[in-house]
Amino acid sequence: MRYQHLRLWRGVGSTRRFATAVDSAHPYHIKVAKAQECANGLCGAIGNTPLILLGGLSRETGCKIYGKAEFMNPGGSVKDRAALYLVKEAERSGQLRSGGTVVEGTAGNTGIGLAHVCRAKGYKCVIYMPNNQSTGKINLLRLLGAEVHLVPVVPFDNPENYNHQAKRHAESLKNSVWTNQFDNIANRLAHMETTGPEIWAQTRGKVDAFTCATGTGGTLAGVTRYLKEASDGKTECWLADPPGSILHSYIQSNGKLQEREGTSITEGIGQGRITENLARELDLLNGSFTISDIKTIAMVYRLLDEEGLYVGASSALNVVAATELARQLGPGKTVATILCDGAHRYSDRLFSKSWLREKKLESAIPTALRKYSILE
Ligand SMILES: Cc1ncc(COP(=O)(O)O)c(C=O)c1O
Repeated sequence: MRYQHLRLWRGVGSTRRFATAVDSAHPYHIKVAKAQECANGLCGAIGNTPLILLGGLSRETGCKIYGKAEFMNPGGSVKDRAALYLVKEAERSGQLRSGGTVVEGTAGNTGIGLAHVCRAKGYKCVIYMPNNQSTGKINLLRLLGAEVHLVPVVPFDNPENYNHQAKRHAESLKNSVWTNQFDNIANRLAHMETTGPEIWAQTRGKVDAFTCATGTGGTLAGVTRYLKEASDGKTECWLADPPGSILHSYIQSNGKLQEREGTSITEGIGQGRITENLARELDLLNGSFTISDIKTIAMVYRLLDEEGLYVGASSALNVVAATELARQLGPGKTVATILCDGAHRYSDRLFSKSWLREKKLESAIPTALRKYSILE
């Protein structure tokens, strides 16, 4: 572990210690509730999400298990934070000026976040995505004002992959940026300066452990970096990985293996390589879990039934990992995780009987909770 380096990031890319306005009356110098004051436009409304105590799982484990309600961001996901910081970094570096264009290759929440932020700041937003994505997703981006390019599904090492096409598009324009969410560390900075400090402030500095899954790695790396620094290395930070991702094997083997086993129904998480966002923080992690789709889908339904929380599969996977971590640490501990987005975009799958049957997940849902899968 290299906690001695933890203080180095301060000031990188930002002149502010925390992402939100300082409230000098608060001992942790950060606002903790969204309702406290007015937000300056959509960008000012990103972050400062509630930390929700999950009552049933907390009682069951004897710990306090919290989920950070990232579905309450204006674009509906944790990726709003990354989108804002990617754009702010492009402005700061002079790559993006008034009337400019933001280009990204993304099939998910980052595109939605960028489309919102670009509208709010007056930039053009161009999104490249594989042509096998749902019409709903494409329409949402278009109605948010983004220009969407659908390109053939080819592997990353093919120059026609959607990420490379996005990069070339940005290079062909003046006053334009390819935000490059996977390897642009402004993404991780968003979580070092906002998500991490918020969790620390909301738990009054009493957070024994944090866990979440990774797509780009920005959330896990940024929160880990902040919490390790704030707690002098005491807060345990664990990666939660879906099947099909190489990260669990990489961590378990101390960087020797990069094995992919199985596939997963989760979206936006799981990774086939070590991104720049994750690379710098990997050796701060205490360990990793791999969470099966069976446990994840059961938790989607349990959170809905017990807590009234309508969240997507990556959030449910995170909560399974937080519960396993709580059991491992023993009663009396506080464990936090991320509720990345709502279930709205996935409802036609997660709550469909035929889809669940096709994925062999119907039996994973406790009989009493099957009443929620109302779609054929
Ligand atoms: C639904 C969902 N959950 C989790 C993540 C992972 O977040 P990160 O990219 O910060 O690792 C993403 C990323 O796109 C996502 O869309």
